[in-house]
Amino acid sequence: MVLEAIRYNGGKLSIIDQLQLPFVEHYFDITTSEGGWQAIKRMQVRGAPAIAIVAALSLAAELQALATHNKLPSSAEDVGAYIIEKLDYLVSSRPTAVNLSDAARKLKTIVSAASQRNGSTALEVANAYIHAAEAMQAKDLEDNMNIGKHGAEWILANALSPAQNKATVLTHCNTGSLATSGYGTALGVVRSLKSNDTLRYAYCTETRPYNQGSRLTAFELVHDNIPATLITDSMAAALLSKAGENAVNAIIVGADRVAANGDTANKIGTYGLAVLARYHGVKFLVAAPLTTIDLATESGNSIVIEERPSSEVTTIKGSQEDNVTGDTKLGTVRIAAEGINVWNPAFDVTPSILIDGIVTEKGVAEKGKDGRFHLDELFD
Ligand code: MRU
Repeated sequence: MVLEAIRYNGGKLSIIDQLQLPFVEHYFDITTSEGGWQAIKRMQVRGAPAIAIVAALSLAAELQALATHNKLPSSAEDVGAYIIEKLDYLVSSRPTAVNLSDAARKLKTIVSAASQRNGSTALEVANAYIHAAEAMQAKDLEDNMNIGKHGAEWILANALSPAQNKATVLTHCNTGSLATSGYGTALGVVRSLKSNDTLRYAYCTETRPYNQGSRLTAFELVHDNIPATLITDSMAAALLSKAGENAVNAIIVGADRVAANGDTANKIGTYGLAVLARYHGVKFLVAAPLTTIDLATESGNSIVIEERPSSEVTTIKGSQEDNVTGDTKLGTVRIAAEGINVWNPAFDVTPSILIDGIVTEKGVAEKGKDGRFHLDELFD
């Protein structure tokens, strides 16, 4: 069965609660943009593309309900203004991933055009928004399938020794079905290798402090029967130092924002993995749709990095089986000394110099002869 994190049909949106994974698979309804904002803020949905899609669809669900109950603002202009205000609000939920503001910008353009069209009605403007939001979900899934294909081909052509025909890869954070509309970006590449029978082995990091790797990626790998092993983040150097048949051929990660020069903001720990990859001569790839590439941001220096609560570092969530009833109970325990100061940046920036290729739905962007990425060419 395909893992589906975001379910949307005819104006009804429900998502899997990622806070309860991998212990409980619970879906809940989101009926308003406020509900979408809360789900993103609380990390019930996370991952750059998934945040954008849930934000867009939460407002689609709200508009659909207003339309059904004849409660839309009365004029086309008023609906346009209402949608634009809600999109600005949704963008304020998390700052680093660019997909959300990119989606909001594109949706605003569509809504403005619809509301300015001569004689257009309030319902037509709402429907223009709803159709565009639905199309974004479909496009993200299609893009991920292409990212998977291009990334797998690149790894087989560029990262293996002549004697090898299968790849061993390491990935970080969660970039799979749970982080996107489906299939995934970096994890989509792993899925593509597996489906072509060219995956020798996958490793995933735990991804401290929020454990997207152990809770979510490990869950997806097990779900899809992909041969894989979980390591803590601190084990990556030891893993990369292994030579021979079991050596890691490539590290593949996702992205929350790729600047025009290729500098990439992604889950904290990505930068360290890129440094290790370069030291050990292992290929380092970033997989992301064009919606994650932000040509307006010149370099990683101007990417705003979200800082998250200290409790994510000082406590850990888990599940425990009740000895008597056998029920699973979710709980949080403290793992750090009371009174210690904490720094919790959710992302870091990997300089483009450490990145061998950026895998997009259009193919794998590599540096030119000048040693720089020319990502603007992807948008031609
Ligand atoms: O804080 P999160 O869990 O939203 O961070 C997610 C990541 O950093 C992912 O690697 C990134 O968004 C790419 S998802 C396809």
